[in-house]
Amino acid sequence: MKNFQYYNPVRIVFGEGQIKKLSDLVPKEAKVLITYGGGSAERTGTLDEVKTALAANGNRSVFEFGGIEPNPEFTTLLKAADMVNKHGIDFLLAVGGGSVIDGSKFVALVSSLTEDDSTVLRDKAWDALLSGCSTIDTAIDLGVVLTIPATGSEMNNGGVVNHSERQAKLPFRSPLTFPKFSILDPTKTLTLPKRQVMNGVADAFVHVIEQYLTYPVNAKVQDAFAESLLKILVEEGAAVKADPENLETRQNIMWSATMALNGLIGAGVPQDWTTHMIGHELTSLHGIDHARTLTILLPSVMRELKDSKKDKLLQYARNVWALDSKTDTKQDDDSIIETAIVKTENFFRSLGLPVSLADAQLDESAIDPIIKQLEAHNMVKLGEHGNNDLAVSRRILERSLTSAA
Ligand code: NZQ
Ligand code: ZN
Repeated sequence: MKNFQYYNPVRIVFGEGQIKKLSDLVPKEAKVLITYGGGSAERTGTLDEVKTALAANGNRSVFEFGGIEPNPEFTTLLKAADMVNKHGIDFLLAVGGGSVIDGSKFVALVSSLTEDDSTVLRDKAWDALLSGCSTIDTAIDLGVVLTIPATGSEMNNGGVVNHSERQAKLPFRSPLTFPKFSILDPTKTLTLPKRQVMNGVADAFVHVIEQYLTYPVNAKVQDAFAESLLKILVEEGAAVKADPENLETRQNIMWSATMALNGLIGAGVPQDWTTHMIGHELTSLHGIDHARTLTILLPSVMRELKDSKKDKLLQYARNVWALDSKTDTKQDDDSIIETAIVKTENFFRSLGLPVSLADAQLDESAIDPIIKQLEAHNMVKLGEHGNNDLAVSRRILERSLTSAA
């Protein structure tokens, strides 16, 4: 195992009816800006519930900013940051999924990038994003009411912001953007469209994979936690498909997705975010949902990097899919690995998700522009060894053109 520090200060408040706890969690004297997305929080009544809980706190300085898009847009977020400065907001309350939470983290950071008036300097904010926000040393406090289990943003300090005009979707991270708390009420996920439920299961699954499928460092706790999460997500993916109203299934999906990316399973182990980094380019160029970019790419990442990931792929096959070349003498290591990859693909298919570029109506003409964007965003040394250059990414994309299975 590698040396590591693990720090996660996010208070999790889990369970049905917990939104009312906002009255204790948000400081009474705070000037609060509730941030939300394209309307689901209003439609489902969650926004009203949030406002009622804040009112019970006696909090009268509550403002709202709606309209944060899936894959939150830079220009929209700067409007929210201007609102923060105009009203002297000192607490952001994100009500939504990864996009609203990430977007609010970005607002929390960039609202300090002003000069004389209260308007955020666009160029400064863009430069900050390009450098992953590492230069910003102050942020507004943030709380979260999660409405979709998927990204883990509710319990980590990272985010991703999209800039459509510049065709860039870029990650950032700051020690200042851990939420103060996140309320996880699984009943809130019952209103999600099926597509979003399945996207969430797949995104969480790939988060675990990218912190697990590298090379062994004898990290038994991280590996066993990761394998358990993968198995739970496979099981609960099928369960939520069969019985979408089952609250226990929703509880398990919600907590799994949070655990998948709160730093715990990634501490002290090598990581490989190749699938995510190429996936971000697919979203920014073609508008494909985040999770769907991952299910398109992951099988090809596994096949292309089969040799360098061989030990972990065999462990994955054995411990997640119950495949073992030692007991199944008819199959050698290579065919065990291929069977595990096919099982992964079939799992994604069973959730209604694409597993190739063809499934997303893209052909080989899509590849050159993606490679160009990866180069422009300096994504040229991906993977646990930093060996995944543009040639490797190109081969991954070529393998993804159609499904191999
Ligand atoms: O916008 P509204 O109207 O609210 O609708 C949303 C949106 O259309 C809807 N929705 C959310 N909760 C709902 C609901 N509809 C009905 N009932 C509810 N309870 O779901 C749609 C998708 O929402 P979004 O927030 O975009 O989904 P998700 O949580 O999957 O977030 C995706 C974003 O997170 C980033 C992705 O890149 C993408 O931009 N990620 C963030 C990460 C992080 N911070 O650690 C890691 C991830 O790998 C990921 O990159
Ligand atoms: Zn993701």
